[in-house]
Amino acid sequence: MMKSVFTGCGAYLPQRKVSNEELAKTVDTSDEWIVARTGICNRHIAADDEMTSDLAYAAAVDALASAGMAASELDLIVLATATPDQTFPATATRVQARLGVAGIPAFDVQAVCSGFIYALAVADNFIKAGQARNVLVIGAETFSRILDWEDRTTCVLFGDGAGAVVLRAEANGDAGDRGIMSTHLHADGRHHDKLYVDGGPSSTGTAGFLRMQGKEVFRHAVANLASVVREALTANNLQADAIDWLVPHQANKRIIDHTAKKLKMPTEKVVLTVAEHGNTSAASVPLALNEAVSDGRIKQGDVILMEAMGGGFTWGAVLARW
Ligand code: ACO
Repeated sequence: MMKSVFTGCGAYLPQRKVSNEELAKTVDTSDEWIVARTGICNRHIAADDEMTSDLAYAAAVDALASAGMAASELDLIVLATATPDQTFPATATRVQARLGVAGIPAFDVQAVCSGFIYALAVADNFIKAGQARNVLVIGAETFSRILDWEDRTTCVLFGDGAGAVVLRAEANGDAGDRGIMSTHLHADGRHHDKLYVDGGPSSTGTAGFLRMQGKEVFRHAVANLASVVREALTANNLQADAIDWLVPHQANKRIIDHTAKKLKMPTEKVVLTVAEHGNTSAASVPLALNEAVSDGRIKQGDVILMEAMGGGFTWGAVLARW
């Protein structure tokens, strides 16, 4: 049996940073309201000529460099996004073309904010099945393009960005105890209307805007994340104190605090980027991961628990040893 070992990670954030104060000039909101309800202070917004594939490519190049791997060694690209450049082809194929690795499979995974967790699970299963050895997994989004900038209940929450990891197949014994230990995915489509985009090629023919019942999303997020985190720990016969780092989806500091509290996890063990990134959907977990690896908090051998919940609803967790 093969194991998926993390060999590198990378990230990219658009240059333009927009503060709460700047937003308050165009929409009826305030820094105090946004910080108190969400913990968000700033978010990055892509330039007009920057597309999701541009962000994804930059994160991919960074991840490959950190893995010390040439793109030519890859044999699979999985890209999580809910904001693709175009309806088709998959944004992953644009990244593939720019990396110059024609021929290998490349496709997108769409699970909104849980997208990176879903993409990691897909990549891990390819590796375990012996169908891939070196896999690039990317989460990339330009949510600024699907926000209704006149709707203060949503536009203050999101940002743009991309993060990526490289996974390498290693025989179980050779990997030591590093690598992905387990992945856990869930969805419940009955909650479609609580968080969705009111457009699409098959419905309105327009891209549409994000719509959300904030309180309902909050309630389900807290319950579903606590449950999937418990599921991951139980599957590995671990207690919460075995986790060195919680790397949660960065939707809202209050949701993260709830999950950490349920795990009785001290705040020092929680990787938080929501203040500076906002909610970058599928990019948020790899962006947070990259930050904690780059600044030396996450070290080889550390046990990390990644979790996310998003539109659908979809939710999931990945437990791994870095
Ligand atoms: N600035 C100022 N006031 C605002 C703003 C704003 N940006 N947005 C809403 N308000 C007002 C409302 O109009 C309302 O005013 P009213 O009482 O006069 O009617 C008041 O603030 C309270 O609004 P609520 O919607 O009740 O505020 P709530 O405490 O629920 O907070 C929030 C809203 C932050 C969206 C919260 O529900 C939340 O965090 N939900 C989770 C949403 C989320 O994280 N979604 C991301 C996608 S899913 C995921 O990634 C997990």
